[in-house]
Amino acid sequence: MHRHTSGAERRFGRMFFAAATLGAPLAFSLVVYAAPPPGTAKPPPADAAKPASTTGASTPPAAAVAGAKPVSGGGEGPHGALPMAKQIAVATTIVTPSNGGPPAGIDPSFWKFIVPADNQGNDARIALGKKLYFDPKLSKDGTVACATCHDVSRGFTDRRGTSEGFGDKLGQRNAPTTMNAVFMSSQFWDGRAATLEEQAKLPIINPIEMGQPNGAAAVAGIQGDAEYQKMFKDAYGRGPNYDDVGRALAAYERMLVFVDAPFDRFLGGDLKAIDDDAKAGWVLFNGKARCMACHQISSSSPIGTDNRFHNIGVSAQNKNFEGLAQKAIAAMAKDNSKEAQDRFALETDLAELGRFVVTKFRSDIGSFKTEQVRNVGLTAPYMHDGSFATLWDVIDHYNKGGEPNAFLDGGIEPLALTDAETNQLVAFLFALTDNRFADQNRAEYDRQKKIAATRRPHKDDNAANRKVLQFERRVAGQK
Ligand code: HEC
Ligand code: HEC
Repeated sequence: MHRHTSGAERRFGRMFFAAATLGAPLAFSLVVYAAPPPGTAKPPPADAAKPASTTGASTPPAAAVAGAKPVSGGGEGPHGALPMAKQIAVATTIVTPSNGGPPAGIDPSFWKFIVPADNQGNDARIALGKKLYFDPKLSKDGTVACATCHDVSRGFTDRRGTSEGFGDKLGQRNAPTTMNAVFMSSQFWDGRAATLEEQAKLPIINPIEMGQPNGAAAVAGIQGDAEYQKMFKDAYGRGPNYDDVGRALAAYERMLVFVDAPFDRFLGGDLKAIDDDAKAGWVLFNGKARCMACHQISSSSPIGTDNRFHNIGVSAQNKNFEGLAQKAIAAMAKDNSKEAQDRFALETDLAELGRFVVTKFRSDIGSFKTEQVRNVGLTAPYMHDGSFATLWDVIDHYNKGGEPNAFLDGGIEPLALTDAETNQLVAFLFALTDNRFADQNRAEYDRQKKIAATRRPHKDDNAANRKVLQFERRVAGQK
């Protein structure tokens, strides 16, 4: 397994160390799984699951399949998103700003360590960030907001294989959810941004996302708005500027915490909160299926990612990694700025090199950040390139031992899971969806199940049961 430490990871390590030396509660108590004590949080409204599922966009069109043209988002707004006014209405119901304190269920001492000192949250900053998050005026042609690709009604993603942005251009990568991104110790599939603040400033000036030539142009687009003038003053004590755009967006994203799922009630002692399949799936997840090697779920890892980078073989099909790596090294010698890395990742075939483009470590070729498994029922299609349509496809991929390639992670090997066990793992993954999206989650389970009944392109029982070895196939020139 790759054990390279990113700058962000080192910071995290230091923070935990600092917590320990200060006598603050350590990693184990970072998230309170049981209901928060009375008075600390408002209970979700009785019909909390409703807003998201009555938007009309909860059932996306037929999923993207490997190699096919990504599907449209399915909403009636620009680029297939749910119109912004509707998204804001939903967000207002389900996201409760906490004036900078930890969202419900999150340990305050943990919160203090993950929020940067120069951008402590407060209501003014969060309100500004919310306005910016849903504002297409930040883009060059006025059609693309953060919420176009991180759409509240679609699990804070765009439900496409890869994203469509400025000028209807398709990128090379799948949009991960912004839900719980606050818990990631680096941002993007390759970890090229260390913080939410740094991340937020990149899509606005990426030519195929929001299309602005630079930060100043983005600020010019909102400068004339008296409401923004006031909100920036209230939030940061000065007029609109690009760094504060990034800060405010990050402050709002820190409120997008969704870790209140049936699974959490199960961990809190409610044995009926999840069904028998999901319970069996949890055992498999930590045992025979080896998922926890990378997706450990615990109080110190509430979203199920090790925050590391692994080649699990998703991009190994038809990819000449060595040739690509040579190309990348030549391109990076010319320009290795953050902005250049962002363009390599989103606009060129270097995207498939993953973490390598950030570190240039040979062992990082084709490796990507372990994605969280929280709310994964809502965010199909899956993986950095959106190449898996359903969670059944995801399990089929792991079951056969991934896709063979010279850089495959040692943690990936054939699992010999039966069909029943595959179903149990899928049931478990659907039990990780926040209760506010319960209806949408059920609809999505049914939709995926229907697809999986006829399409299992990655299922390979012979490989899963070691009847054939991937190596032998490769030597025989079969794959
Ligand atoms: C055109 C679609 C699009 C737009 C617009 C967009 N994003 Fe993204 N976002 C993506 C894609 C695609 C990725 C993954 C890119 C990669 O990893 O190389 C991503 C990644 C992210 C991540 C990293 C999450 C993680 O788990 O690593 C965050 C956070 C994020 N975007 C927030 C934002 C914010 C804030 C805005 C608005 C300023 C925004 N995005 C605008 C498509 C978009
Ligand atoms: C060796 C580490 C490793 C192991 C073991 C592992 N994963 Fe992953 N997982 C990853 C990485 C890395 C990605 C992203 C890969 C990519 O996009 O190329 C990922 C992606 C996923 C995704 C897609 C998430 C999304 O939003 O697109 C799901 C779901 C998932 N894993 C579930 C599982 C399950 C279930 C198991 C056990 C059967 C498992 N993983 C085992 C590292 C691992």
